[in-house]
Amino acid sequence: MEVIIQPTPEEASRLAARLIAGIIGAKPDAVLGLATGRTPVMLYAELVRLHQREGLDFSRVTTFNLDEYVGLSPDHPASYHAFMHEHFFRHINIDPGRIHIPDGMASDIPSFCATYEEDIRAEGGIDVQILGIGTDGHVGFNEPSSSLASRTRIKTLTARTRSDNAPDFGGADKVPHHVITAGIGTIMDSRMCILLAFGENKADAINRSVEGPVTAMMPASVLQMHPVAKAFLDGTAASKLSRANYYKWVYDHKPEWQRF
Ligand code: GLP
Repeated sequence: MEVIIQPTPEEASRLAARLIAGIIGAKPDAVLGLATGRTPVMLYAELVRLHQREGLDFSRVTTFNLDEYVGLSPDHPASYHAFMHEHFFRHINIDPGRIHIPDGMASDIPSFCATYEEDIRAEGGIDVQILGIGTDGHVGFNEPSSSLASRTRIKTLTARTRSDNAPDFGGADKVPHHVITAGIGTIMDSRMCILLAFGENKADAINRSVEGPVTAMMPASVLQMHPVAKAFLDGTAASKLSRANYYKWVYDHKPEWQRF
């Protein structure tokens, strides 16, 4: 895994946005895998800025979101549909027909999930998957003990994740128990993974995911097995990494052709 440590979340987000903009520039019909949560908000804001100020064109881009709460309609303010429209889609020139977000209201969830996987395949797979990380190491909503080969399916949230996400709902007891999430196998099939993590409360999960053993008990650790995974961290999220100085040196001395 490539570990890129920046002084602030803003700088890390700007850098990740530049990488994604470069991918869209090289492949205007790129397929993006998108994440929600507080972490990628600055990344989306920067991509919006690049669209508005520098003409970054999303008209041929296709997106697949990682996850959604079961039982929330798209207009529920805590739904990931609402989040994505608020922070990203309504500010860019994306074709609404190219936006895919798991349907939390699907009546037949297994069949919906199988179709979601087929739709990703039909678009040629995900070029770049954006990821946040839960304090318990989850990616998407793949909680600890998720199969490392899992595909899109229903999952049950842990008490810790429901408590972490309580502010979006006004109380942990109001957070749904069930979600639909792309699987770890789905994520691993993408051609590049960009993991973002900021703040001290992510330092432990980052340490275990980057430098610990690969284990289903720390789902993000599977990214060690991904051929092109890049972790964009701020100083506090990176504060428990034993090799932080090495990662910084590597990044600062990248050959010119590897820079973005
Ligand atoms: C949520 C999302 C994840 C996200 C994570 C961290 O539950 N399902 O995709 O990465 O938790 O959220 P945050 O960025 O708000 O810390």
